[in-house]
Amino acid sequence: MIFVTGGAGFIGSNFVLQWCAQNDEPLLNLDALTYAGNLANLRALASNDQHRFIHGNICDAELLTQLFNEHKPRAVVHFAAESHVDRSISSPEAFVQTNVLGTFRLLEAARSHWQNLPEDKKAEFRFLHVSTDEVYGTLTQNDPAFTESTPYAPNSPYSASKAASDHLVRSYFHTYGMPVLTTNCSNNYGPYHFPEKLIPLMIVNALAGKALPVYGDGQQIRDWLYVEDHCSGIRRVLEAGTCGETYNIGGWNEKANIDIVHTLCTLLDELAPPSDRGVINQQTGQPVKQYAELITYVTDRPGHDRRYAIDARKIERELGWKPAETFETGIRKTVDWYLNNQEWVRNVMDGSYRDWVAKHYESGNK
Ligand code: NAD
Ligand code: DAU
Repeated sequence: MIFVTGGAGFIGSNFVLQWCAQNDEPLLNLDALTYAGNLANLRALASNDQHRFIHGNICDAELLTQLFNEHKPRAVVHFAAESHVDRSISSPEAFVQTNVLGTFRLLEAARSHWQNLPEDKKAEFRFLHVSTDEVYGTLTQNDPAFTESTPYAPNSPYSASKAASDHLVRSYFHTYGMPVLTTNCSNNYGPYHFPEKLIPLMIVNALAGKALPVYGDGQQIRDWLYVEDHCSGIRRVLEAGTCGETYNIGGWNEKANIDIVHTLCTLLDELAPPSDRGVINQQTGQPVKQYAELITYVTDRPGHDRRYAIDARKIERELGWKPAETFETGIRKTVDWYLNNQEWVRNVMDGSYRDWVAKHYESGNK
């Protein structure tokens, strides 16, 4: 079986759903269910024995040892992290705790399990660490995209904590020979994305007639990848990646934030016209004619990285992976998903997804 951490979050839950749809192999999912973890994302698997959920923390060394001993996974896919840059600026400690200490504890438990495996199983074991392009820092307009050999230069407490975890993972290969793999991916978007991040926040706010807050001048560039493509890239690296190597994953979709926001407004005007829905501008009290009226420039994020861009040629050349979605197809699917999953959105916005967790899962592991 494989052991996934953070499988109730945005990317992790998409990975778990994709895994169970395309594989028979059992999957153990350990997640602490922080504010970002939502078991409703995995509702489709409620009666599927292939998926086993454990509510617990990656910092809990005893629990990790017990899980490795009991389940003897052949691989770990490590998503669990604090992931939001703005939260890392206001409250960095949780980022050090989970991203650095948690990754260290997971590496230690995995090492102890791996070292006791018979030689053939030892060679087959994999520890795949899911990381980010933000560890490479920021680019100017004319810089070439990040490659796997771009020096690390993290600029936020979030990216610094992810960089630290990447270095720890790397050291377990060089020091102990543990078969590790690291992926560094660009910005994801798609279903189950928590509405604190740019794309889901803009969709949710627009439909509610709230301001669409664009940081600074809105000209910062991110490189967007549909989440299911990220998940397929991770599976490909797990299957065929060379141990000790890192792989950039990206979609060749560099976009300025303000262009993303305009694209979302245009799609929403088409798919959910504000006049049909009776959307009222919460600031002026007037009916909204076009969602772009709600765009509001706000104070910039401190230390805001100007541009990210991923050179994804290595994974394509060596492992034959390419994204299936273009930005145009992926963003339309995403807007459709949010429009068709308004109950999910409501439960997240009013916090009731956490009550649901308490009612259904707190009494034991499921
Ligand atoms: P997320 O915040 O949506 O989900 C994180 C999950 O980890 C949640 O389910 C949360 O409950 C769980 N978690 C947090 N702390 C934990 C702990 N101490 N123990 C166990 N579980 C814990 O994050 P995401 O956007 O799905 O990102 C997943 C991974 O991918 C992260 O490592 C992130 O750095 C990386 N990444 C994200 C993006 C992106 O655009 N979202 C891009 C590249 C890489
Ligand atoms: O690059 C990969 C990273 O992408 C991941 O490692 C992170 O986990 C993930 O959160 C994401 O980080 P960003 O900071 O790029 O994502 P976010 O959605 O928070 O912001 C995207 C851009 O939009 C960024 O330039 C800040 C801007 N922004 C964001 C929000 C939430 C706004 O202008 N307004 C907003 O309200």
